[in-house]
Amino acid sequence: MTIHIGAEPGDIAETVLMPGDPMRAQWAARTFLDSPRQINAVRGMLGYTGTWRGHPVTIHGSGMGMPSLSIYANELLRDFGVRTLMRIGSCGGMQPHVGLRDVILAMTASSISTPSSSLMRELRFAPCADWGLLRAAAQAAETRGITPHIGGIYSSDTFYDERPDLNDQMTRHGTLAVEMETAELYTLASRYGARALSVLTVSDHLLTGDAVSSADRETGFSAMVEIALAAAFP
Ligand code: HPA
Repeated sequence: MTIHIGAEPGDIAETVLMPGDPMRAQWAARTFLDSPRQINAVRGMLGYTGTWRGHPVTIHGSGMGMPSLSIYANELLRDFGVRTLMRIGSCGGMQPHVGLRDVILAMTASSISTPSSSLMRELRFAPCADWGLLRAAAQAAETRGITPHIGGIYSSDTFYDERPDLNDQMTRHGTLAVEMETAELYTLASRYGARALSVLTVSDHLLTGDAVSSADRETGFSAMVEIALAAAFP
């Protein structure tokens, strides 16, 4: 057991999918895994372990934002021996050619700060996805008739953003979308020698102000889970 994960070491698989929302973790585990069993509920952060096509998989919430994700990712990587950590989540589109419900595979993530920033001191560390996972996820998406956007995203510390000028610069420099977790996820995976990838769907758009309905969110969420599982076990 760790401070935030009330599981025994063998309870967690080497491959973990992390949605932000713990209820999504419950739904995904019950929908996609065989024999899912709950392995964590500390502070309501639900985690489940089961199998997918015979492979052990854990699906565990990360919470919102990098400080929350950092707590769970640190404990999973350091104390539970997790080797593959995939975020499945939503993001806000930042390019005109990125549409609502599109799938984004994050190659890298810019940030103003992350929980690791103070460790890096003056270094602007460039967090990057695991290439094998990224390639497998692109293939898994295309097999399902989905053409993903692949490129850089922005991991923000705020959802209610007060810096439209900064968003303009992100858009100008080709940033595909904004979310709040990936820069720290990739940094931690690098630190622990593990593999990481964020598979995202566009739930709202910063340029148009449009947003998807909650029913659409569910459909998009299913596609992400399928792509992540197929990428983890190609
Ligand atoms: N901003 C930050 N995080 C997000 C957004 C957004 O617009 N949409 C989904 N996650």
